[in-house]
Amino acid sequence: MKILVTGGAGYVGSHTCVELLNAGFEVVVADDLSNSSELALRRIEKITGKRVLFYQVDLCHKTNMREIFEEEQIGAVVHCAGLKSVAESVILPLEYYYNHLASTLILCNTMQAYGVRNLVLCSSGRVYGMPEHIPVDEACPVGNNVTPYGRVMVMVEEILRDLHTADPRWKIMFMRFFNPVGAHPSGLIGESPSGTPNNLMPYITEVAVGEEKCVGIFGDDYPTPDGTCIRDYIHVCDVAKGLRMALQHILALPDDTTGLVDAYNLGTGQGHSVLELVHEFEKVVGHPIPYEIRQRRPGDIPVDYCDPSKAERELGWRAEHTIAEMCRDAYNWRRKNPKGFGN
Ligand code: WQD
Repeated sequence: MKILVTGGAGYVGSHTCVELLNAGFEVVVADDLSNSSELALRRIEKITGKRVLFYQVDLCHKTNMREIFEEEQIGAVVHCAGLKSVAESVILPLEYYYNHLASTLILCNTMQAYGVRNLVLCSSGRVYGMPEHIPVDEACPVGNNVTPYGRVMVMVEEILRDLHTADPRWKIMFMRFFNPVGAHPSGLIGESPSGTPNNLMPYITEVAVGEEKCVGIFGDDYPTPDGTCIRDYIHVCDVAKGLRMALQHILALPDDTTGLVDAYNLGTGQGHSVLELVHEFEKVVGHPIPYEIRQRRPGDIPVDYCDPSKAERELGWRAEHTIAEMCRDAYNWRRKNPKGFGN
């Protein structure tokens, strides 16, 4: 049985491929390389010593997807492909709706045609929007004052719930990860955003290596201890471990008569402010990271961190890496790869 990882050349996808290969799975990657690089696949092979089958396809094109299922014995899918920037989704809502809805509908339609009903979805903690309570648990209502990225992931989850209602044999897990950061400790794979990074950690890393002059902090007048926004930063290797364990949970269930559809938060359960992350990074690099306060960014919420106990209770998963390790590994990746993957 092979596991199809959509977006497997991307940031979360590539770390997930390493995790799956190291766990003994055979991996097939489908990626359009629009925001990733084939070099990541070579690096995955170097880390694991195992081969990755690769299809460069537009995931929003039905024929491409059918070709993969025709050629390969796919037993389950980990769906990592998709745009992931909250800030960018506010500016480019149509791209986010099309990208996530078209790719997921085509994927599930193809899976259905080939009788493949095991799906792990890379969802997002952003589905909670402005969370009703903190820490956010899975019982917290979704869709409350969300950005386009959060809203489209709510839509995707609702589509998959309807699919399971129509055919309860589907086994579907929504893995709602918070803020993945860091990189594989080897420094061979990591986050390689094309252009100026939208997200905080890669931007701090650019400043740390001297590529950018200073970190612009989007607002220090939020209702938080130091005035800057708080987030649940989680090491990308912990996210990948969570996705692998979700897949194993699905595959361990009885045969086609038993299905499920359920959501799990993947976070550390601890919040760190923007300023705290900057200072953590300074400890790792051993020199100050210049920053300046700028105006707030549309779509940002003051505080967002999760209660990850359901994944621990039901999957036996727990985030293990510290914020210092996240900064260390992000810095290590960037120093070893000044141009990322060059994409
Ligand atoms: C974090 C904080 C900014 C950049 C995330 C990501 C992605 C997604 C979940 C899963 C905010 C501040 C940022 C900068 C700053 N993953 N900031 N200066 O907005 O929580 O969105 O949602 O779905 O991990 O899209 O992450 O890193 O953009 O911002 O001050 O140059 O850092 O205001 O408070 P965010 P982020």
